[in-house]
Amino acid sequence: MDKLVIQGGLPLQGSVQISGAKNAALPIMAACLAIPGKTLLRSIPELRDITSMTGLLAQLGMSVSQGKAGEWLLESTDSQHSVADYELVRKMRASVCVLGPLLASRGEACVSLPGGCNIGHRPIDLHLKGLAALGAEIEIQSGYVIAKAAKLKGARIFLGGAMGSTVTGTCNIMSAAVLASGTTVIESAACEPEVVDLGNFLQACGAKIEGLGTPCITIDGVDNLSPTEYEIIPDRIEAATWIIAAAITRGDVTLENVVPEHLSAFLDKLTSLGVHCQVGTDSIRVSGVKKILAGDIVSLAYPGIPTDTQAQLTALLCLADGTSIVTDRVFPERFMYASELVRMGAKIRREANSVIIQGVNKLSGANVMASDLRASAALVIAALAAEGETTIRRIYHLDRGYENLTGKLTALGANVQRVSESSRKTTHSIPQPHWQQALLAKTPLDN
Ligand code: EPU
Repeated sequence: MDKLVIQGGLPLQGSVQISGAKNAALPIMAACLAIPGKTLLRSIPELRDITSMTGLLAQLGMSVSQGKAGEWLLESTDSQHSVADYELVRKMRASVCVLGPLLASRGEACVSLPGGCNIGHRPIDLHLKGLAALGAEIEIQSGYVIAKAAKLKGARIFLGGAMGSTVTGTCNIMSAAVLASGTTVIESAACEPEVVDLGNFLQACGAKIEGLGTPCITIDGVDNLSPTEYEIIPDRIEAATWIIAAAITRGDVTLENVVPEHLSAFLDKLTSLGVHCQVGTDSIRVSGVKKILAGDIVSLAYPGIPTDTQAQLTALLCLADGTSIVTDRVFPERFMYASELVRMGAKIRREANSVIIQGVNKLSGANVMASDLRASAALVIAALAAEGETTIRRIYHLDRGYENLTGKLTALGANVQRVSESSRKTTHSIPQPHWQQALLAKTPLDN
């Protein structure tokens, strides 16, 4: 298992290419289950979650092969297998995206229930409600969702829940409804760009969809979909992470391959925090940040500030001038990283679905542990700005969602090393107290 060792204090400088969006690529790859023939996908990022998805699709009878960098060719060659087993689903919750396409194209799906997660309670009741409304018979047996339907039928489905719309839930229902008979109307649909990207992909395959990007999506079912070639949108969350990293290090970084409109709320908030971005057609430059101002942030479904940037924004506000409150309205428990930032000198207090951050003048390097993907990104951001050396463990979370992170950081001038846990290299110039060494030795390596 690897860890990241970062010497903080260097401003990031240069340009960085944003990769294809993980959360668009995953449901689009899953949708290929329902498309006969060979589909070519471009700008698929090289990530652990993508590897997990290709493994799952292969298990479900798909031929999946990699072409040029970022290109994957997918073809459903054997439709006998409809079981997504626990071992694969527990590695990646987005495996649930195969439910809709499997059911629509093979008449049955048996998918392990994803279970708990480090960012909070994540039920899939809305996915199941939507598929049941399309006529599927659904039962839960031995931890699996077993769904069956000889032919799905279009329906009007309200897909909002207590926490608002559901991103992968909307993807699942849309991927199923495109092959249902008649018309489906999804109300309270998720408006995220990744949902729109899936819809655009399905349309390129012959699906009839209206209202993408709005809370009301109308789908007229078709008999068949046909294969296509499709390019995945740039990753807005990766872009937001680089913007924050540039800002906190007072750097000068140009992001290339971005869709600035996907980041409107985020960029607007950053302006009020003293981070000014020069926005081009498909680029964003961050430079000249002097003082980070305090401010209150609420993460919401799109077009609001994404929950997937909440942890990184909190890291930024640790060094703001004043007190800030960050609230997560999508995943109210998503603050496990906060106590790790406190170990770096941050002043953060948790209250219900918020953290209250009292800005400090400096952070200092420490041993910290990543708990999920975006939490890891927040720790990297804090480490880049901290005085001294930070060691981040459990960085396999980062491999799930940030393509070539170490390479991109190094190219921007950061002092970062990826070190194997078993390596004898000394990674700390500051001697660790005995109690801290003992604690690290006892910590389990996986969760
Ligand atoms: N929810 C329900 N019932 C459901 C589904 C969701 O109550 O059936 C609740 C959730 O518990 C949550 C809220 O609705 O409180 C929104 O959850 P959503 O279903 O939208 O999340 P998701 O589809 O499981 C996707 C992304 C997440 C991202 C969220 C919110 C993918 C593969 N994952 O998850 O990305 O945080 O939408 O935008 O698209 C990440 O990339 O780090 C990540 C966690």
